[in-house]
Amino acid sequence: MLIFAPFMKYIPEINRRKSFAIISHPDAGKTTLTEKFLLFGGAIQTAGAVKSNKIKKHATSDFMEIERQRGISVATSVMSFEYQGYLVNLLDTPGHKDFAEDTYRTLTAVDSVVLVVDSVNGVEAQTRRLMEVIAMRKTPVIVFINKMDRDGKNRYELLEEIENELKIQLHPMTWPINSGKDFKGVYDLNEKSLVLFAAGTKANEEDVVKIDDLSDPLLQKKIGEKEAATLREDVELIDGVYGPLNKKDYLSGQTAPVFFGSAVNNFGVKEMLDTFIRIAPTPRPRQTTLREVKPEEEKFSGFIFKIHANLDPRHRDRIAFLRVCSGKFSRNTYYHHVRMNKDFRFSNPYTFLARQKEVIEDAFPGDVVGLFDTGNFKIGDTITEGEDFFYTGIPSFSPEIFKEVVNKDPLKTKQLEKGLLQLTDEGVAQLFTQFGGNKKIIGCVGELQFEVIQYRLLHEYGASVQMNNLPFYKACWLTSKDPKKLDEFTKYKQANIALDKDGHIVYLAQSEWFLNTEIQNNPDIEFHFSSEIHK
Ligand code: G4P
Repeated sequence: MLIFAPFMKYIPEINRRKSFAIISHPDAGKTTLTEKFLLFGGAIQTAGAVKSNKIKKHATSDFMEIERQRGISVATSVMSFEYQGYLVNLLDTPGHKDFAEDTYRTLTAVDSVVLVVDSVNGVEAQTRRLMEVIAMRKTPVIVFINKMDRDGKNRYELLEEIENELKIQLHPMTWPINSGKDFKGVYDLNEKSLVLFAAGTKANEEDVVKIDDLSDPLLQKKIGEKEAATLREDVELIDGVYGPLNKKDYLSGQTAPVFFGSAVNNFGVKEMLDTFIRIAPTPRPRQTTLREVKPEEEKFSGFIFKIHANLDPRHRDRIAFLRVCSGKFSRNTYYHHVRMNKDFRFSNPYTFLARQKEVIEDAFPGDVVGLFDTGNFKIGDTITEGEDFFYTGIPSFSPEIFKEVVNKDPLKTKQLEKGLLQLTDEGVAQLFTQFGGNKKIIGCVGELQFEVIQYRLLHEYGASVQMNNLPFYKACWLTSKDPKKLDEFTKYKQANIALDKDGHIVYLAQSEWFLNTEIQNNPDIEFHFSSEIHK
């Protein structure tokens, strides 16, 4: 029998957990790939069981669609499944650009990422911004190039485009044989086997032919003379350039292994999943305001990275998503809410095994737990067994569209204030108050959020508002080593200064030109484009 020292007793649980986020530009195939993962993991039995959390194109004028999407995104926020003895926590992210902040925060709760790229469209703007966040955090990435059954870009050019655009070194793990209607399959460079393409392949039913030596005549028999010759050349070139994958480079976020496939045909997915299980990181130590916390520490700690409002507007309670970072989280146990300096216990924490919400007794590092919240949590809150620290690195990005909130019903002022506070706690938008005044300014990354806020203020809080456009294009958080200089600037630029919810000074810039001029003219002031919730 194995006996573990107290600080080691959770190691077997920690070492079997792999938590990752799946990201893509809308329509690249994220939902389809997620579904195949769940089929492999036995978490679902039939195709079509995973609903897309995509917002349909007409959503701006269709609030039912937003409500439908909110419902689905609760159900698909976390999906857990078992594969080859590992417990995999898959965190979904909204592909829609107006919800990019939600995706940024989800990235703080995972240990690695799978990026889906459409072979026809290549890298799109949205993906580029997400990769900046991933690069900042040095998160390990695996790339899945999807839709190989369609006539896509030339594969070398595609790899070059991805490398250049995302500023990451790629490492092909499989290599495709043609694409579109001539797509024959992939050669697994690691396993040295040919995986032959058949449309509509079911889970676990791939046609795999072991070909150690590419000069084997079996190769041309399987894929044809011309294709065999091209594959030999390609593999020689790739082997020469890349050699075997260096796992360290993957784990440090420098190199991303790449797989080619077709999610809808369940092709090339197993190769990726098997590699993921083999190389993806288990929960790692994380930085806090006090010290680095290791997952195997005996005492529990974790942080809230997402808050989801109840779909029933008559109930104010929400679901706060907690990422467990160390120790063991247990049901009905008092834990310390650091920001509020208050103890809470949770009688119905739940997890999402097999896509069913299930009340759990305990959870380990890497797990995501849903906590019922009656308004006590904000994004970035840390819960511990008593120690006072905050997990760092949860960013709040500069909004890009700003509007003034005008109260249309003075009798509902209180409700409006409460609604604005609660909705911004959820991270739907950022709230600023004009410096020296009372003007409430909301900043979002997309137009859609303003409509969501206006709709929810009215339906959940009874507050009717008008949103007036403001001519700002970016918010920058200001700091300075010289408080006098900051004070002078704030007074001088009063019309462009606001306070965020935590009282931090923010400069609202009208244009890039104005912003650059201020940066140049004020060398003693630092302009930050994202504010970390806890530094
Ligand atoms: P998303 O979550 O990233 O937004 O993408 P999603 O999986 O919903 O896929 C977008 C569309 O691309 C879907 O078609 C899906 O069937 C298709 N698709 C996914 N993988 C592949 C692939 O490997 N090859 C091809 N040819 N198509 C693929 P749709 O018509 O928008 O939806 P549906 O009616 O098929 O559900």
